[in-house]
Amino acid sequence: MKIFIDSADIAEIREAAATGFLEGCTTNPSLLAKAGRKIESAIPEICELVDGPVSAEVLATEYEPILREGRSLAKLHPNVVVKVPLLLDGLRAVRTLKKEGIRTNVTLCFSPTQALLAAKAGAAYISPFLGRLDDVSEDGIELLRQIKTIYENYDLDTQILAASIRGPLHVVQAALVGADCATMPLGVIRLLLQHPLTTNGLSKFLADAKKASEH
Ligand code: E4P
Repeated sequence: MKIFIDSADIAEIREAAATGFLEGCTTNPSLLAKAGRKIESAIPEICELVDGPVSAEVLATEYEPILREGRSLAKLHPNVVVKVPLLLDGLRAVRTLKKEGIRTNVTLCFSPTQALLAAKAGAAYISPFLGRLDDVSEDGIELLRQIKTIYENYDLDTQILAASIRGPLHVVQAALVGADCATMPLGVIRLLLQHPLTTNGLSKFLADAKKASEH
């Protein structure tokens, strides 16, 4: 499962890229607003740091404007994947952009039927939002499992990008289900390496080695 950062903050993305494990990045209008960045300048900067797909989201919600915005975002860098909302006009645009060789990430997916239609339209990625489903007492991982089964049943090649990840347990569950990628905040990426028994065990080993060297 590929690890993506869900951020538009250059310092965060630089830190994640420095780990050597970063394989992509997703942004959205809220993340860009939080980082105080404009999409046209932020995306090329992010693409210089991340060796992998970088999702940039359109704001348009109608077919022709989505196409116009998608084409101009795709021109920013070859690694750009155009993020399109799960609307009928969005899926129509996905089909057209695919014919033009532009990859799309269909976002705000909350049901298996939405994911099926996104794949039929030719989306390169589908983004089921795990955390936001959990927030309303629905099972985000169960949605992931259903999408995985449906895509396998019909050999659909859209990649499943587990999104709205809240912690390492979501990452484990997404990997067990077989998601192709998972996008998460820097805080979660940092936690993937942590275990208190590793930290405590290492402190004990180093303390014992120091004691032994003093004999
Ligand atoms: C996905 O591409 C979205 O940017 C993101 O994962 C949404 O996460 P949130 O629910 O934490 O805002």
